[in-house]
Formats: sequence, structure tokens, C-alpha cells
Amino acid sequence: MQRIIIKDALKRSDFGEKINVKGWVRTRRGNKNVSFIALNDGSTINNIQVVVDLTKFTEEELKTITTGASLSVDGVLAESVGQGQSVEIQATAIEIYGTADPEKYPLQKKGHTLEYLREIAHLRPRTNTFGAVFRIRHNMAMAIHTFFHERGFFYFHTPIITSSDCEGAGQMFQVTTQNLYDLKKDETGAIDYTNDFFGASTALTVSGQLEGELGAMALGAIYTFGPTFRAENSNTPRHLAEFWMIEPEVAFIEIAENMQLAQDFVQYCVNWALKNCSEDIEFLAKMYDNELIDRLKSVVENDFVRLTYTEGVEILKAAVAKGKKFEYPVDWGTDLQSEHERYLVEDHFKKPVILTDYPKEIKSFYMKQNADGKTVRAMDVLFPKIGEIIGGSQREEDLEKITRRAQEMNVPEKDIWWYLDTRRFGTAPHSGFGLGFERLMLFVTGMQNIRDVIPFPRTPNNAAF
Ligand code: 4AD
Ligand code: MG
Repeated sequence: MQRIIIKDALKRSDFGEKINVKGWVRTRRGNKNVSFIALNDGSTINNIQVVVDLTKFTEEELKTITTGASLSVDGVLAESVGQGQSVEIQATAIEIYGTADPEKYPLQKKGHTLEYLREIAHLRPRTNTFGAVFRIRHNMAMAIHTFFHERGFFYFHTPIITSSDCEGAGQMFQVTTQNLYDLKKDETGAIDYTNDFFGASTALTVSGQLEGELGAMALGAIYTFGPTFRAENSNTPRHLAEFWMIEPEVAFIEIAENMQLAQDFVQYCVNWALKNCSEDIEFLAKMYDNELIDRLKSVVENDFVRLTYTEGVEILKAAVAKGKKFEYPVDWGTDLQSEHERYLVEDHFKKPVILTDYPKEIKSFYMKQNADGKTVRAMDVLFPKIGEIIGGSQREEDLEKITRRAQEMNVPEKDIWWYLDTRRFGTAPHSGFGLGFERLMLFVTGMQNIRDVIPFPRTPNNAAF
């Protein structure tokens, strides 16, 4: 018999037809006449109810059908009288593929804490919560590709192993095939990389931007979507050592169009989630965050506020003067902390905010320098509950200015000569940004910890699974 996925089975109304479903047992309950098995195959948050008539099956046959067991069920599609479901299947034959010993299977009861589920990340996709999160994650990836494809952007694959530090923050994971027990050093004590695999010091990329710019300066508009790595030792609910980033880069646009692109992009993704993931989002809203759906709608319906860093600092200082307490001080020239960003978004404007024109000292070498000599054309998109969800900028297209800034910020010219060639040959205004995929996921799912929106999180002291 042809197997159908449970998502499709639940939509059918041709009662009396014979079908086959396969899945994992969520629960089994019943009495001495009939047994009800809730079966889930991951295609939807909803289970199908399998009705087992105990005059046709013995208790012995059903004994090992416990939570977590995997089954193939042949049966007759029937209209359900039970609440909350319209379709059920009356079993005619059941094959047990694999049992799950109730004494040992860790996902017996509902209501495990998210912390506990992180310790069994290999099994947590089988829970309702993580099933919902990972289905939404897939949908967000589809939304992203569709958005850019529809707008004529090309998906440009940038390398994961690299010999340059895009953000210049020195937070890279080294990649080497050298024998760490027998490292060759030169007379100054420096490690000799000439015999290493690539003949140079290499690391996992922190961003595909520099190579993305090469693509944009040829194809016009590109985006990357891949894993990025940061060895920043920040054990927070918003940082991962391995996260996915989407980085569009566009020739011939300046900061204002870049901001509009960022807004259109995020709104498109959130709207996609509202349209295509409603059951999963409703479940997460009910379980964890009853304001989730209103928050998602509000982001889709409202323009993001645009203001400069300097204006933002003024608002924050005025709040402090009125008695608002922050853990970290607010001063022109220092980077905003997440508490400051969230104050602007959640308390002051009650909308997403795009902050621009940051002090050049706290931003990367490649950002376009403003005429004031103090600020650069950076933009950070700040979101309720999240803080920074996007970081980007208009890029400095002037060869002399960018070379000088790279020197000042200790980015060696020998590492980025190829990047500087875009400014040497056919330079043009261009802009781009990076969206942290898991930050978007936090927003869309309402989950509070970034470890709960990626299947297998990598964080300080944790690379299990
Ligand atoms: O602001 P960032 O560092 O910007 C860049 O990497 C630029 N090269 C992007 C560009 O202009 N093409 O990072 C971009 C975004 C952040 O706004 C945040 O959402 C996310 O990446 N991000 C992280 N997400 C999870 N864990 C971390 N450790 C992250 N660091 C940055
Ligand atoms: Mg940033």
C-alpha cells in the first residue's frame, strides 16, 4: 500500500479508502476494547489517531507500541468523532519497525525543560517544540532564497576556509593540518605555515562579505547563505560559535536603498512564516509566548524607524537623565549594549529601528567614511526581544581612503590585495548587510535562547552531537 505522509492524510475526506501511514508513537491510551495511538511522522505538528480494535489485535501484539516506537500502519481512513481532529485511521495491520524501551527512552512524558532537551539534542527534534522550530527553520531558508531569486539576486558561494579576517576582530577558529605536538617555528618564534596544507595561516570564515563584494562588483546583486564561525567567548542567549548568515551585496546602491532592502527582506520572511507556518507558530505562541503573533504582524505592518547612532545616544541619555537604569553606561563613541538597543526598540519606539552612522572606531575598515571624519555609513537593524538582527553598511569605494583605514585598523594589505582590486578597477558605490539566520529564527519562533533554534548548537565548551 502506498504510504502517505500524515500532513496529507489529515487533509483527506475520502473516508473508507485504505491508506498506509508510518511514524513514531507519541502516546497510546485506551481501554479493554479499543486502543488509541497518536502517531507523528514529522510532516506536521498534528498527530494522526490510529484506532486499534482489540477484538482484531491482541494485547501481546500491542505491548511494545509505546512512546517513541516506530510503526507502519495499514488501515481505513475514517471521519473522527474525537475532538480536535477530523480524520483517523482504523488499523487493519500494524508493523512495528523499532521499539523504544519505556525504561530507557528519555522522551517519555511531555513537559521537559528546554535545558534538559539541549542535553538530548539528538532526540529533541522528535518533540512538538523542536519539530515546529525546525519546520519553521526550513521555511525561512526557502523564504530567503525565494526573496532574492525573485529580485534577480544570484546565490554566490563564498569559501568557508579563508586566509583573511573580514571583521578584523581576531575571533577566528584556525584551520591547520600541522602536527600540534611538533610545531615548526622560525627564528623569531613565529609559526612557519609554509608547510601547512594551504601554505599559509588559515581559519574558518567569520563572514562571506569580502568575497561577496567581488561577486556584486561583477554580477550586480548577490547573496550568500552559509555557515560562519566566531570564536567569541560570549556565552549569551544570542551568540553561537557556528551560525548561519545571509549576506546580500549590491552594486550601485547607497545606504538608503540598503536600509529599504533590509526592511523588505525581513518583512518578507516574517510574512512568509505567518502564511506558511501558522500551525507551528500558533503552537509555539501557545506554549511559550502569547504575544508572538501580534509581534510578527506588527513587524510586517510597520516601517522600521531610521535614525542615526548620535540621535540614538541622545535618546538613551535623556532616558538615563529621567531615571532609567542601565547596567552599562551610554556614551558617544562606545558600542551600544543589547539593553540599550532593546530600550530604543521596545520602550521608546515600539518598532524595529535602523541605526546608522556609527563612530568609525567601533566599526570595520570597509565602511564608507562620512564627511564629518568621525562616523561611517554603517547600519544596524535592531529588533524587539533580539537587539541586533542585521549589521551592514555602504562600503568605502575610494581606494585611497579604504587602504588608509585598513592600515589604521591593522588589516594587512597583503591579505586583502584582491579585495582592494575592486576599488582599483571599476570601483562603484555599493552596499550590503548580514542577517544572522538564528537571530531571525529567535524572532519568528519566539524562542528565547539561540541554542534552541539550530539543531546542534556550538557554544563555548559545547560541540556535542
Ligand atoms: O554585524 P556582523 O558582525 O556583520 C558582518 O559580519 C558583516 N560582514 C555583514 C555584512 O555587512 N555583510 O554580523 C552580522 C549579523 C549580526 O547582525 C547578527 O545578527 C549575526 O550576524 N551574528 C551572530 N549570530 C549568532 N551568533 C553570533 N556569534 C553572531 N555574530 C553575529
Ligand atoms: Mg554587528
